[in-house]
Amino acid sequence: MKLSLAPIQSYTHVFYRYAHHHTFGTFDRFFTPFFEEGKNGDLEPKIFPEPNPDLNSGMDVVPQVATNSGDFLIQTAKTFAGMGLDEINLNMGCPFPMLVKRKKGAGLLKKPTLVKSILTSFFNHTSGIKLSVKMRLGVERPDEWKDIIPIINDFPVSEVTVHPRTAKQKYKGEVNWAEFENITAACKHPLTGNGNINTKEDYLELQKRFSTVSSWMTGRGALHDPFLPGKIKGIVYTQEQKKLLFTKFHNTYLNIVKQNYPEWNHAFNLIRTFWHYPLQNNRNGQRFYKKLKKYLIEDEYSRWSQEIISNGTLMNTDITDNK
Ligand SMILES: Cc1cc2nc3c(=O)[nH]c(=O)nc-3n(C[C@H](O)[C@H](O)[C@H](O)COP(=O)(O)O)c2cc1C
Repeated sequence: MKLSLAPIQSYTHVFYRYAHHHTFGTFDRFFTPFFEEGKNGDLEPKIFPEPNPDLNSGMDVVPQVATNSGDFLIQTAKTFAGMGLDEINLNMGCPFPMLVKRKKGAGLLKKPTLVKSILTSFFNHTSGIKLSVKMRLGVERPDEWKDIIPIINDFPVSEVTVHPRTAKQKYKGEVNWAEFENITAACKHPLTGNGNINTKEDYLELQKRFSTVSSWMTGRGALHDPFLPGKIKGIVYTQEQKKLLFTKFHNTYLNIVKQNYPEWNHAFNLIRTFWHYPLQNNRNGQRFYKKLKKYLIEDEYSRWSQEIISNGTLMNTDITDNK
């Protein structure tokens, strides 16, 4: 079984992935949040430090792109391949209306001819670089994938990750595993399932139902509970281990952020995102997070983080009433 960390813009960036991997080592693969084409044809957000080899070594990292241009996809894939990353993932799921309107992200699900032309140019102009896609079921309807999967089937796409919701649902509401089941029958490529895997039990249920699917992805569940991938893989953490590991996770993250952003103002924004999800799991955490919402200078932050780690509130990373 292969377990991947989902791309979550602003959260699962290179520093988070680095700290997670060097603390827990429980994810098999990491997807970067998507890059887009900036005004001058550059990558947005700026490519560095995302592919910095020092921050990615020993990890399986797949960069993701949201584009509707075959040329841009090819160019970006080649840029990343030059940095040692031999797979690129095409985003066909982002539900932001601005993106959908511009025929990007989930917007591509409505444009089978465009998808065909992007895939044709990619496979005509690259070799040795894998292309995978991450998609939703549709924009408005959960059966819109039926126009897209047959096209994807005609190309040597390496893998199809499906988050079985429509773009209209954004990130809420029922995950439509019945429609995912239809995709397992229709799609010729290896599939990855993604959506609301928040506990080990969620994973076990899906694994039982979809015994032919051997690759799963979790995003928010792992952000809420960084022990989740380990639990899914059968590790049982004691409270003492959890405290030690979480301390290491935090310190690794803090150090790598500070090395790259020596100015506290910059570092602090990234530190806030680190705590956002783990502190939504219970009321105590939410109360603590409020203190962090306003700006803390470095000394205040040190006291705040020591308090929260030592008082045990954080150790309750198991998902409780966060939904
Ligand atoms: C704030 C936020 C940002 C996201 N950014 C991306 C992204 O950059 N690329 C992408 O493919 N999916 C993105 N997603 C979707 C997730 O990768 C994932 O498909 C979705 O959250 C469902 O999985 P989960 O329930 O395990 O979180 C984002 C989701 C959220 C909530």
